[in-house]
Parts: sequence; structure tokens; C-alpha cells
Amino acid sequence: MKNSIFSLLLLLPLLASCVERQVYIVHFREHSEEKTLHEIEETHHSYLFSVKKTEEEARASLLYSYKHSINGFAALLTTDEASKLSEMEEVVSVYQSDPKKYSLQTTRSWEFVGLQEGIHTKLKKEDLLLRARYGQDVIVGVLDSGLWPESKSFSDEGMGPIPKSWKGVCQTGQAFTLSNCNKKVIGARYYLKGYEAIYGPLNTTLDCRSPRDWDGHGSHTSSIVGGQRVPNVSFIGGFARGTASGGAPLARLAMYKACWAIPYQGKELGNTCFEEDLLAAIDDAVADGVHVLSISVVTSTPYPYDQDGIAKAALQSIKKEIVVACSAGNLGPVLETLSNPAPWMITVAASSVDRAFVASVMLGNGEEIEGHTLTTYKLKRKMYPLVYAAQVVNPDVPKNAAGQCLPGSLSPEKTKGKIVMCLRGQGTRIGKGEEVKRAGGSGFILGNNPANGAEIQDDTHVLPATDVNSDNAIKILEYINSAKNPMGYITPARTKIHYKPAPFMASFSSRGPSTISPGILKPDITAPGLNILAAWSEASSPTKKASDHRVVQYNLDSGTSMSCPHVAAAAALIKSIHPHWSSAAIRSALMTSATMTNNKGRLITDALGNPADPFQFGSGHFRPTMAADPGLVYDASYTDYLLFLCGSRLDTMDPSFKCPKNPPSPNNLNYPSLSIPKLNGIVTVERTVTNVGGPKSVYFASVKPPLGFSVKVSPPILVFNKVGEKKKFTITVEATSESASTIGKDEYAFGWYTWTDGIHHVRSPMAVSLA
Ligand SMILES: *[C@@H]1O[C@H](CO)[C@@H](O)[C@H](O)[C@H]1NC(C)=O
Ligand SMILES: *[C@@H]1O[C@H](CO)[C@@H](O)[C@H](O)[C@H]1NC(C)=O
Repeated sequence: MKNSIFSLLLLLPLLASCVERQVYIVHFREHSEEKTLHEIEETHHSYLFSVKKTEEEARASLLYSYKHSINGFAALLTTDEASKLSEMEEVVSVYQSDPKKYSLQTTRSWEFVGLQEGIHTKLKKEDLLLRARYGQDVIVGVLDSGLWPESKSFSDEGMGPIPKSWKGVCQTGQAFTLSNCNKKVIGARYYLKGYEAIYGPLNTTLDCRSPRDWDGHGSHTSSIVGGQRVPNVSFIGGFARGTASGGAPLARLAMYKACWAIPYQGKELGNTCFEEDLLAAIDDAVADGVHVLSISVVTSTPYPYDQDGIAKAALQSIKKEIVVACSAGNLGPVLETLSNPAPWMITVAASSVDRAFVASVMLGNGEEIEGHTLTTYKLKRKMYPLVYAAQVVNPDVPKNAAGQCLPGSLSPEKTKGKIVMCLRGQGTRIGKGEEVKRAGGSGFILGNNPANGAEIQDDTHVLPATDVNSDNAIKILEYINSAKNPMGYITPARTKIHYKPAPFMASFSSRGPSTISPGILKPDITAPGLNILAAWSEASSPTKKASDHRVVQYNLDSGTSMSCPHVAAAAALIKSIHPHWSSAAIRSALMTSATMTNNKGRLITDALGNPADPFQFGSGHFRPTMAADPGLVYDASYTDYLLFLCGSRLDTMDPSFKCPKNPPSPNNLNYPSLSIPKLNGIVTVERTVTNVGGPKSVYFASVKPPLGFSVKVSPPILVFNKVGEKKKFTITVEATSESASTIGKDEYAFGWYTWTDGIHHVRSPMAVSLA
């Protein structure tokens, strides 16, 4: 998963040589008067015609005309034509589509969420599902690599008629007929004009020219949001056996396939999604009538909103109160790597669940060391010679690569019949096991290096194997160094639940602060994204490698791609219970009810066991049942987001809206969290909460100020007399005299403020740094 963002770089020289016209995305101001779709398209044509020689050429060069998500088009243009267009007054932006900009980034996860909530509430997950009618009135659009319609997760058993509001279609194509849509998969479309403009016609052995998933990713994410309950499924070898179920098991799904295999590159190295194809997909999704969008697509680096198609299109979808959930990205643990930072979307980080696949290493000295694996291979019951890879490499292998088990590095003579321990770092995890097997090793231990800490992505190694955390890797190395005849054994793996601590943050989960809008605290929330079991494409193996011929209906996968649909599902359930809530109200409910505590009752940690912070988990781990009854919400409208853009000195892209002379500071966007970068002395921000709980209620403020700051909430008591009533309050943050000595420059301190009426705890995290 992590590689996908980088993989495209290899292709650039190939692209540069064969194209002279490039795909450009041209974005106009929003249409101020009512125009028919035909009129909008004709306007787009006339602009194109004004820079092209002939009408025919203009029509042929147009890939997409966008009407619902943004007002604009994608077309093949020369640099000259592009620059002429960019000089026109009505044009907001013209930029070249960048093929390396976007890429895609799953039984236990839902039970775990229910369990987590059980500590704090009498409500059960089942009550939530019943109240939400299992999500059956809600339509979730998924932008991804397609889906495998034959999967039991996408059966429509027991589902009522398709909602009358639905205007979408079932687009047929290669290996995809009308019968592949049903009352569960109510829509399916695909978009590849942008892809084909660069890569040429799709190679139909590589991917499927239809909404069918040839990869696995799209089946996985869409079954996490809205897959049916399928009992007794498991991964190969019986791992993770249980009921597979989407978070909203009766929600309707609409697949918008806009992500494709990359030619001349293995599927395991990732896929690509072209901006113009994504825009066309969101354009249709908005017009089709989806309620929630789940977008597990990220940019390679953070892009400003006006250069990020997903952000622009999502802003327009707010007019229809569509909830947009997006992945934070898989570029952690480095700070400021976060993708999808716009305040009108929900940005989702990834964390672990309380399930582990445990296989221990037994050392010759009797010590048992815990490891994790999904391999189905087992050793004979006896002790084997145990070596560190560097002891059995070929003589020509450089010292710094000696423990890495890179292809061809191990000496078969020295390796045969032994258990070999390799370290993570260079090369692929599965590939290291393949090398041990090639050299005749009997077993394989993959040790984390210190940077990986305790995070293990359970691998399906090709021989008996187990993965150990960095502390355990050191223990094994010490044993190998000290014993005369080091010996070892790897026990067969078994599934262990109620594993502690959980959740912890996945180290790959991208971190804040947001470089685009440091005044908005991102990510917003975290949800399960490590070793999640969900539906898969039967055209792809569990490792996606061409050499792997296994076919699975369910597969384990990791990434913020998997956590995003968890939150989309929770949003769908809340939408079902509260159909008139705005997109912002639903996000607020999810955020303010999230927890920062793990199943040991302590602060959620990172993969190394250190306390995590809001730049990793946002408001915390989501709790859908609590979110259905949040007490208060922080609401925001389309206009509020435009005011936020005015205050951030950014183009609102909407001519019918004039920015006020003194727009509010971006901090005053009515967001359920607070970020104050570079605080100079003292600042006061404003918030408004809406009562969505009992008609008569009294809320009290409590504060945990960030170290080195004082925080005052005013007034400290809010009295509500009816549902829907709004109350304003202010938060004043001031640097104390010690602040400079407690936090360094560019360092953030974290705290929170909470409104409580004794039943609801409406918590907002805050992050503050000094000027
Ligand atoms: C299409 O992809 C297959 C599988 O990777 C490959 O063998 C074949 O050569 C490709 N065809 C073309 C026309 O590139
Ligand atoms: C679950 O499936 C396994 C293997 O397919 C089978 O052996 C087992 O009896 C099934 N369990 C139930 C409860 O159906």
C-alpha cells in the first residue's frame, strides 16, 4: 500500500517522450444564473473552440464537461492553448493533469468498535443498527477500483426496493452486465478518458473495461462501508474467522471506478487515479443522488484546495449536504504528510483493532517470544538451527544490506535447513521470505527495525514464518550472539482476540499538522485500518503478485484506505437516523464523541508505545453508537466554508458570493476542534453549538489546557430550552509566562475542552504553537 504513491515516478521518462498535447483541467467560476446542462456543455465547447482551429478539433479534444461537482472541463490542450484559456476572466484555474498526483491508498473491526463503546455506554451496536434500519435508506458512493459483484458481501438478499431518489445507472462493459447490479449495488460506472489520454487504450488483461474490480481494493473498501453480513468467512488457513459485515450492512452502494492498473508494472506496486476521471466520477455521484462519498484516494503531497480536484468537487457537494469521508494518507509517521485537509471533508487516520494472529518463536534457552503472522505454512515439531541473515550471506553482499535478505543475497549452502532472521528496511517484507525459501531456509523471522516499533502488518509469507516487533528482534539477536548453538522453533499461528493495547496508531497513518490550513486541526478522527478482513476480487491474488495464484473471496489489507470507509459507514448510519442533519453536523457528532482512550484505559499510543496526539488521531477513535446521540453539534454551511476561504485569502470560486471586507479569521470556522498555529500572546475564537439532545438541558464547560497556555471558555454554562437552539461561546487562549520554556519553536502543545450535561461529553481537541 505504502509503495503506491511512489511507484509512478518510475514511469515519467516514458511519458515525457510520447506526448505533446496534455490533459488540462480548466475550472470556471460557478454559474451564477440557472443554466441547463446542455447550455453549460455548450459554453465549455465555445471556450475550447476559441483556442482551437476547428469546431471538430474542439469537440474531439474535450474529455469531460463537469457540471455538478465543479464548473469546468478536462481537455487535451497544448501549452499555448492552455495559457490562452488561463488569461480569460471567467477562468479560475488551468492546470495540467498530473498522472502521479492521486492514488489509492479491513470481521473484527466492527465488533471491536462495539466493545470499545460498551465501556462507556449501555447502548449496543445492534441498537444503533436497528435505529438506522441498517442504513438501507442511505446511498454511499465509493470512488475506487471497481467491485467484484459476485461477492456474497454484495448480495441484495432481504433488501427493499431501491430508494426513489436514486438517479444513477448501471453501466455495462467488459464482464459486467445489468445483472451485476441489484438492490445492494444500485449504481456502477467507470471513468478512464484521462487514463487513456496518457497511457493509450486500456490493456484489458491488466484491468477490466467496466466497473468490475480487477485489483481487490475497491471490493475491499466498498464491503467495509456497506457489505452484507456474511457468516463464517475467513482468510486462507482459517485466520480471522467470523462474520464479515459492512458497517452499514443494508446501505446501498454505488461504485464509481476511477482508479486503474498501471501498464508495465505489477499490481502490487499500486494503481493510479487521474484527476479528470475522479472529477467526472464525483460530478456523476452528486447528480445521481449519493448521500455519503467514501474516497480512499490521496494526493502524493499536500496540494492547495484550488489545485486539488477532490477538495474542489467536495466543496460543491456540500451544497447538497453530502458527507465526504477521505483517507489521511499512508505517509506517516512523518509530520505534515497529511492529504485531504479541507475542512468540508472528514479526514480519517488509521489504527489497529484488538485482534492479532500470533505465532511465537521458541528459543533454545526456553524463552518464548511473541510474533505475528498469517502464513499457512508450519514447521515440523523440532528445534532448528537459528541464524541472523548476515551470518549466511554470500561474500559479496555489502555490510549495510547483510541482514536484509534482498533477492540473491543468501548463500544456499549456509542457509539450508535453518530458521533465518531478517530485518525490515530495504526490499519488500514478502520478498525477504521468498529469498529465505529460495536459499533453502526452513523458517523465517522478520524483525522490525526500531522505526517500525511494534507495528506489524501481518504477512502471508511463503514459508513457516513470523514477524516480531523491534524489542523482540533485539532479544532474538542477543540470543543468537550469546548462544553456542542457537536453536529455534516457530509455533503455528492462531487468531487471538481482545488483544491489548488496542487501538494504537498505525505508523503509516499520515500526520498533521496540515500544511495547507494549519488553522484547522487534522486529521479529524481515527478508525480501524490495520489487517482488516473484507471482500476481494477473484481476479487478483491476496498479495496482488502475478506469481501468487491463490484466489480468495476475503482478504486482509491495511491502510487509511480501510479506515476511511469505516467512518463513511458510521456517517451513513447517522444520516439514516437523522436524515436532515447537515454534513458538518454528522462530522461533528462523529468527532466530539470519539475516544482518546485504548482498551487498557490509557491514552492511545503510537506503534512504538509512546502517547499519540491529535496530529495522529484527531479527536480520537470513532464510536458510532455514541455519535448517534452527540448532545450538541458544531454546524457549518456552504457559506461558512466560503467565509473560511475568504479569511484564508483564498478564491471562493463562487461569483455569486462576495467576500466581506473584514472576513472572519479562519480559526472562527465553526469546527469541532481547534488549531492555533503561531499564537502571538492571546487569541479569542468563537464557536456556536446546536442542541440536538433533550429539549431542556444545561451544559458545563471543562478544559484541559495545553501545557504552557491558559484557556478560558465563556460563558462556562450554556442553558438550552429547546431542540435546535443555538448558543455562542468564546474560547480565549493565552500563552503563560512559562510557555516559552515548556515548548520549543514550531512545537505544538495539546489539550481539549468539553461540554457536558452529565450524559453527553462533547469533546474538542486543541493544538497550539507559539509565534
Ligand atoms: C497486456 O498486459 C499483459 C499482462 O501484463 C501483457 O502480457 C501484454 O503484453 C500486454 N499487452 C499489451 C498490448 O501491452
Ligand atoms: C465454517 O466453515 C468451515 C470451513 O469452510 C466449516 O468447517 C465449518 O463447519 C463452518 N462453521 C459453521 C458454523 O458453519
